[in-house]
Amino acid sequence: MTLYFIGLGVGDEKDITLKGIETIKQCTVVYLETYTSVFKPTLKTLEQFYCKKIIPADRDIVENKAEQTILKDAQTNNVAFLVVGDPLAATTHTDLFLRAKKTGISVEIIHNASIFTAVTETGLQLYKFGPTTSIPFANKETLPETPYNTIKDNLSRGLHTLVLFDLKPTEKMFMNIKTGISYLELIEKKLKGNVLTADKKIIGCAALGTNETEIFYGTEEQLKQHNFTKIPQCIIIPGKLHFMEEEFLEQFSL
Ligand SMILES: C[S@@+](CC[C@H](N)C(=O)[O-])C[C@H]1O[C@@H](n2cnc3c(N)ncnc32)[C@H](O)[C@@H]1O
Repeated sequence: MTLYFIGLGVGDEKDITLKGIETIKQCTVVYLETYTSVFKPTLKTLEQFYCKKIIPADRDIVENKAEQTILKDAQTNNVAFLVVGDPLAATTHTDLFLRAKKTGISVEIIHNASIFTAVTETGLQLYKFGPTTSIPFANKETLPETPYNTIKDNLSRGLHTLVLFDLKPTEKMFMNIKTGISYLELIEKKLKGNVLTADKKIIGCAALGTNETEIFYGTEEQLKQHNFTKIPQCIIIPGKLHFMEEEFLEQFSL
């Protein structure tokens, strides 16, 4: 029996690949990972479209209770583990993959588009991105400096930085662009840095890869003032821009 990690893409229920949908049809048990991203279609829409009952799997199930649920089911059934985006991008699902292998369960991956490829909608070239970073929910005192330092390192090499934001979908908590930028400004102030200057233009993105995508290019202040209405959101701090990237970005200028 096989545990299939199936990417759903970033748009809606129809973004699944043909291979993904055919595989779901062969599976007796279908789980949907519900804690690392957010998807516009509801569970009911997905159930109707994929013609299967879907079991939501939160962090506790995946990280602490997989042996009693997902992995137990996969001992005797074909099991689908659905992930919004790509199953191994920006998530910790490699851990579940390794645990399945150790238990002797065969594992297959069915890839899909991810936030890591959807960022190309901004016109930035993927090979010019440095390491990605993410901003966790934290208070002023415990806010880590790592995201700021990653941006600083990337900028010193002329590279772009994709900055992802924390989210807790089950509690309907999604960090937004305004809060993310404010966190970076706080760290910059604390470290007395001068990386994110007042005139530095950055890119704010919401719901990339969907038919409701919002992309805006402006200073931190302009992006904080702008009302992004969709989720999930992220920002990109551009490094050295190629003239084609600059030309592409102009259409999003505030
Ligand atoms: C941990 S990543 C999950 C990535 C997902 N598994 C994938 O492959 O795309 C979640 C974060 O990425 C960003 N993100 C994910 N999808 C996005 C989208 N369509 N548009 C903008 N930001 C997105 C948000 O900051 C969100 O909180």
